[in-house]
Amino acid sequence: KQYGTIYDAIGGFETIERLVDAFYSRVEKHPNLKPIFPDDLTETARKQKQFLTQFFGGPPLYIQEHGHPRLRARHIPFEITPTRRDAWLDCMEEALEEVNIEEPYRSVMFDRLTMTATHMINTPEDEK
Ligand code: HEM
Repeated sequence: KQYGTIYDAIGGFETIERLVDAFYSRVEKHPNLKPIFPDDLTETARKQKQFLTQFFGGPPLYIQEHGHPRLRARHIPFEITPTRRDAWLDCMEEALEEVNIEEPYRSVMFDRLTMTATHMINTPEDEK
């Protein structure tokens, strides 16, 4: 392959799996996130592994099973305030660190996730 992807550079699916597991083990303990997630995160984590694989340039696993992500629409049932966005990103930042993703990939990944997370905000702070 002439141009590498972030997915390949960080170690492929195995690394995505470790990242997503590290992420949800934080989400399920986070007081602000816990209430909007299901108690059993097995299926959520499985879908997120598929999604982040394609998001970072790997095979289109999510689309193959679930069709177009329509991420913002899929998040409408959940009240996502700026505070929840920050909480999600804090969990992700710690997960990227735990899994030891190297620079410059870590920052590039975090920046892309920050843009997407900001796009998911659907509830102003005072309506929480
Ligand atoms: C699903 C919350 C940002 C990707 C979900 C679910 C919740 C949630 C509650 C449903 C879990 C379930 O029922 O299984 C949030 C919050 C965010 C956020 C609070 C803060 C901004 C993001 C971002 C991405 C993302 C930035 C992608 C980079 C997904 C995916 C699913 C999902 C792929 C599974 C969709 C499906 O059911 O097929 N999220 N999310 N989320 N989220 Fe997020």
